[in-house]
Amino acid sequence: MKVVTTIAEAQNHAKKGRRVLVPTMGALHKAHRELIRGARAKGGKDGEVVVSIFVNPLQFEPGSDYERYPRPEKEDEEFCRKSDVDLLFRPNAAEMYADGRSVFVDENSLSNVLEGKSRPGHFRGVCTVVAKLFNILKPDAAVFGEKDFQQLAIIRRMVRDLNYKIDIVAVPTVREADGLAYSSRNAYLNAEERKQAAVLRKALLAAKDSEKKTVNEIVGFTQKIIGAAPLARIDYVELVDAETLQPIEFVQPNSLLALAVYFGKTRLIDNILLE
Ligand code: PAJ
Repeated sequence: MKVVTTIAEAQNHAKKGRRVLVPTMGALHKAHRELIRGARAKGGKDGEVVVSIFVNPLQFEPGSDYERYPRPEKEDEEFCRKSDVDLLFRPNAAEMYADGRSVFVDENSLSNVLEGKSRPGHFRGVCTVVAKLFNILKPDAAVFGEKDFQQLAIIRRMVRDLNYKIDIVAVPTVREADGLAYSSRNAYLNAEERKQAAVLRKALLAAKDSEKKTVNEIVGFTQKIIGAAPLARIDYVELVDAETLQPIEFVQPNSLLALAVYFGKTRLIDNILLE
């Protein structure tokens, strides 16, 4: 595995076969491994799997966890080596964001709801950094997780609207035994918060299995189950159209139930498709 830290090195690294990129912010876990596996499958046996690790300051709102976001560099590098990654790109913020930068990538429809409403500027940061990674590394395909359903939808839209010739591959959410989605932020949870966080998956599954059809019923039902966990503080529970991410009134084919819930200071997200 080759490790590069400058943009020039990454740009000059000759491509071998179909290049598949897995963008990450590091603190790699089992879900990232599934994405890397998906990248290998997509690239075929002569393909090249590239992982980027960059804790992107532009996507953290002021006052959020940018400073304390975990950065286990050595472990991450070892993780990539063991996962059969070909190229690891680990740029630094000073080079990625030159002083006086004034060009950003803004998506203006899907970004206005759910996470975008709670985290102003977040998706501008995500789109800008992913566009930069696409421009620097010129992958043929890139892999994203369905845990961040809205992010995936916005990246697909960016690829379409800016004409990137890049296939976007989606990987289903990878979960721990009790159903909690893997996330680098799970490391912030104390033992009791971690235990109670399992309620998120439980609530989403119960909502999917229920006979409830209207938004108020479904959202209310989900909130009630989550509310039974004393440490949970709901940011939002919303039912939206999975294509447009716009609010809907009744369950329809392709409805997405999405939520963000705090346990202590830690904000977790999850989602489920309802038929
Ligand atoms: P990060 O949170 O490190 O996630 C990297 C990729 O892993 C994303 O595509 C995310 O959806 C996926 N992922 C994380 N947890 C997952 C899980 N439990 N199951 C399936 N996929 C999961 O998302 C980001 O970084 C950043 O916003 C990034 C795209 C790298 C831009 O900075």
